[in-house]
Amino acid sequence: MTPEEFRSAGHQLIDWIADYRQAIEQMPVRAQVEPGDVRRNFPTELPATTAAVGELLDELQTIVVPGITQVQHPMHYGWFPSNASLASVLGDIASSGLGTLGISWESCPALTEVETVVCDWMRQLTGLSDAWQGTIHDTASTACLTALMVAREQASDFSQNRGGLQSEPSALVVYSTAEAHSSITKSALLAGYGQDNLRFIDVDPETRAMSVAALRFAIEQDLANGLKPTAIVASVGSTGVTAVDPVAKIAEIANHHNIWLHVDAAMAGSAMLLPECRPLWEGVELADSISWNPHKWMGTILDCSLFYVRNTQLLIRVMSTNPSYLQSSVDDEVIQYRDWGIPLGRRFRALKLWFHLRIDGIEAIRQRLRRDIDNARWFAEQVEATEHWQVLAPVNLQTVCIRHEPPGLNNEALDAHTLRWVNQINQSGDAFMSASQLDGRWMVRVSIGVESTTRKHVEALWQLIQHTVSRSPEK
Ligand SMILES: Cc1ncc(COP(=O)(O)O)c(C=O)c1O
Repeated sequence: MTPEEFRSAGHQLIDWIADYRQAIEQMPVRAQVEPGDVRRNFPTELPATTAAVGELLDELQTIVVPGITQVQHPMHYGWFPSNASLASVLGDIASSGLGTLGISWESCPALTEVETVVCDWMRQLTGLSDAWQGTIHDTASTACLTALMVAREQASDFSQNRGGLQSEPSALVVYSTAEAHSSITKSALLAGYGQDNLRFIDVDPETRAMSVAALRFAIEQDLANGLKPTAIVASVGSTGVTAVDPVAKIAEIANHHNIWLHVDAAMAGSAMLLPECRPLWEGVELADSISWNPHKWMGTILDCSLFYVRNTQLLIRVMSTNPSYLQSSVDDEVIQYRDWGIPLGRRFRALKLWFHLRIDGIEAIRQRLRRDIDNARWFAEQVEATEHWQVLAPVNLQTVCIRHEPPGLNNEALDAHTLRWVNQINQSGDAFMSASQLDGRWMVRVSIGVESTTRKHVEALWQLIQHTVSRSPEK
């Protein structure tokens, strides 16, 4: 494709995306397809002929769009918001169009330096001190894995340079809670700690936050048993109920025992753009690493996960490789982001964050976050004020965990009722929420925060829920 052909095809594509975004509200929220439906529409072998972009756009419309659960739909309340602001989409397109190669500072100085600039802007915008330096990872999962690998090496006096964990005399232990995201377990396992050395510390039954007393006890027990407490992952905004672990108190324990503290604020990090929400991560300055995802609630299109550390030298010591073909005369003066994480090649992700911040503006983003918090509080008030409805956890931000508990329905019967009404709504395509378990019983998470979701949509959701439940056989 020549640049001129690209220009014409690109205009068609941008028009198509703009029309698509305008039409989202008329589409079903949940993909209305069965397994295999999308695949069946494709030939089993690549067609011998080439296609014009118009033909592919028709196929996008007729084959791909029906297979998309519309997370940009204003009636999407599932999982967590995964906003993809159009300003950031432009930045992402710019990144693709530039076709840069990020393997060293020299391979694209601008890629490195714009990343440094936007990470520092984001640091300032979330109230972090200049002790932190950041980079952009694809996901919070990668960030947590990186943190746990650095913690492992710090605690084992760089065992990777000897026999690795296999030759360590004491097992290294990681602490988190069962409320933490599944990526924390995955990271601990991938970083070689082993399931036996991952402790889920008890949580407060009300707030679901990590119990500091239980953490202290577990660490002391492990020390007494000759094990090596190595890392704690504190959640600020857990996935299930947005639980917030007490970072300041956890940091005190971590620092006392020289344990690495990683703060996973994948979702709630967006809220730290609001000064009034920052008490939620009070004590964060005492942590060793932090990750959060602008690609969630804030709305910089996936993938864009910020990872901050205080001791970059340690990170570099664990992650660095320096083959001759990547060396240059300025290596002592520049950041090599390949030494701050796992991949060598990186995309120019900073562009989407830059475009998002500069085109939409931080004040508009903040206003939207505040709107969502207000909408969540309003929604929780309606639920609490209605007979036989429960709000099951504190509403710390924009997610409300609810259950309809009609008299006489308990345990399995209550579970069946919950799953029936939520699945009915999800299957209808009118709205989408996530069913999730709390203490082994099903509940429904209403996660408010899609860019286009206004109070009108939240009111419509509450009406839809009540109407659906009123027609349920058990009521
Ligand atoms: C609290 C929390 N941590 C980590 C993650 C993992 O995020 P990612 O998809 O960026 O790996 C999620 C995802 O929803 C999350 O909610």
